[in-house]
Amino acid sequence: MKEWKQFLEPYKQAVAELKVKLKGLRAQYHLEGVHMPVEFVTGRLKPLASIYDKTLEKGIPFKPSAELAKELPDIAGLRIMCQFVDDIGKVVDTLRSRSDMRVVEERDYISNKKPSGYRSYHMIIEYPVQTIHGEMLILAEIQIRTLAMNFWASIEHSLNYKYQGELPDEIRHRLERAAEAAFSLDEEMSLIRDEIHDAQKYFSAYKESAERDYSEQRRKGE
Ligand code: GTP
Ligand code: MG
Repeated sequence: MKEWKQFLEPYKQAVAELKVKLKGLRAQYHLEGVHMPVEFVTGRLKPLASIYDKTLEKGIPFKPSAELAKELPDIAGLRIMCQFVDDIGKVVDTLRSRSDMRVVEERDYISNKKPSGYRSYHMIIEYPVQTIHGEMLILAEIQIRTLAMNFWASIEHSLNYKYQGELPDEIRHRLERAAEAAFSLDEEMSLIRDEIHDAQKYFSAYKESAERDYSEQRRKGE
């Protein structure tokens, strides 16, 4: 057990650090007064029971090793939730340009949704953790998704857990329909968002011209 604790400690550290850093993105956007692409951030260390299940699935030995670290890139897992689909690309660009992590893999399950209906953008990063024995590079998985994608994925995850991955046909169909509905919700919200942007642009242009008219009238009146 002590061996596992030692093995997992840098991952635990990475989750804590990355949570602070990614939440920091939100605060920075907020201070700049621009639209905030990050709604909320969560992070978790993969439970040992899930690590065990995964080693069985992958047919690798269940023991702390470099092989296990490589085969399971989501021991440290972070999730970034966005309001709009467009925000995901902005977050991805920001992460690609950071100097404190290196993106080693990207999977776009938004353009290419999974057969289950699952949608999300996945990035595997290499992240340096400072340990008492020096720097250690670990892998972490960052999943970036909208609130609607997250809602769907969390429900599907619980159902899969309940039925141990063997979903009854009816439920599977319903989930597929729910995934379509979540997708439409994202699309509708994107359209509404464009409307809001246009309205804001229109309003500020209107305010400027109204102010110009007003000062002109005052000048004439004087
Ligand atoms: P596993 O899916 O865990 O076997 O890993 P993988 O190597 O196939 O990577 P993949 O990118 O497919 O998935 C990694 C993670 O994405 C999973 O651990 C889940 O958190 C999430 N995920 C992938 N597919 C689904 C899905 O169909 N439903 C839900 N709820 N989550 C999924
Ligand atoms: Mg998979």
